[in-house]
Amino acid sequence: MNSGNMLVFGAGYIGRKIAEFLVCPLMRGKIYTYQDIEDQIKNIQESGYPNTQIIINAVGYVGENSVDDCEQNQEKTYFSNVTVPTLLADYCLKHKIYFVHIGSGCLYHYNYEIDMPVSEEKEPDFFDLTYVRSKIAIEKILANRIQADAQRILVCRIRIPLDYQPHPRNLLDKVLRYDRIIDARNSITYLPDFLKILKILIAQEVRGIVNLVNAGGLYYPDLLTYYNFLAKKNKMPEHDFEVIDYRDLEKPRTNLLMSVDKLRSIGIMPDNIKDVYVDCVTRYISNLKGADGQ
Ligand SMILES: NC(=O)c1ccc[n+]([C@@H]2O[C@H](COP(=O)([O-])OP(=O)(O)OC[C@H]3O[C@@H](n4cnc5c(N)ncnc54)[C@H](OP(=O)(O)O)[C@@H]3O)[C@@H](O)[C@H]2O)c1
Repeated sequence: MNSGNMLVFGAGYIGRKIAEFLVCPLMRGKIYTYQDIEDQIKNIQESGYPNTQIIINAVGYVGENSVDDCEQNQEKTYFSNVTVPTLLADYCLKHKIYFVHIGSGCLYHYNYEIDMPVSEEKEPDFFDLTYVRSKIAIEKILANRIQADAQRILVCRIRIPLDYQPHPRNLLDKVLRYDRIIDARNSITYLPDFLKILKILIAQEVRGIVNLVNAGGLYYPDLLTYYNFLAKKNKMPEHDFEVIDYRDLEKPRTNLLMSVDKLRSIGIMPDNIKDVYVDCVTRYISNLKGADGQ
């Protein structure tokens, strides 16, 4: 795999991480039309990256504060989450480029008592949020082309990013902002693992929809309990929280477990999130201490 042949669109939280890890250009220009894509790629090709073979799309709108913001910004939501990725896929179709789309796994209702971890084949059924409807719409557009074998496309469904580097979108930062923590176990994408797996999938030119999450599920109170254990040890403030039944949350949210069987069938064995979060919190606290100069 040659990083010089790859371009990442979407200079946000996920896109920056991907471009940094894969050491490839991060496209920062706004896309309003198909011509914008042609122009931006022509420019980057003329400035030392002439041979584009892979385009990774991390463009999207997830809301400034939360996905609830998408309700007030429906046009922006559909434009960034459906129109722009479709235009990028069209560019890839025209130029015979492998297209990698960063999708979402938050597409389902889930009953913890009867449901098995959700496979890629299950039909999405969560229509309660504009954000999710837009993610379902683009997945359907891309799935249609994948099924018809019309072009080379990979959709990576990620879910609730967790990382050791503080960032407002990091699950650890999020739970540290909340006083009430839900009790449901959830599939999580640990970003350092995501980046390594993404690289393998691209190198193998895997096509189709793939749940790109860690194995198992994370119980958020465990994450905070371990954070408080280490915070106390390091004489840092602990975070008070109350555990609530996830069904008592007032806002519509997806809580679910996703299957990693497809990843395993490709030969990728993602770590169980339970084996990962302790190291993640340890490194996160070190980063906080480093930032404070402690
Ligand atoms: N973060 C999560 O929790 C999460 C979970 C699952 C899936 N995902 C998916 O991962 C993708 C990336 O999410 P993220 O967390 O990295 O979001 P982000 O930080 O908001 O990044 C999205 C980027 O897309 C850019 N963008 C939006 N519309 C654009 C347009 N018309 N032209 C060019 N750039 C445009 C944004 O630029 P501006 O800010 O300038 O508009 C921003 O830089 C999204 O598709 C999201 O649905 C994220």
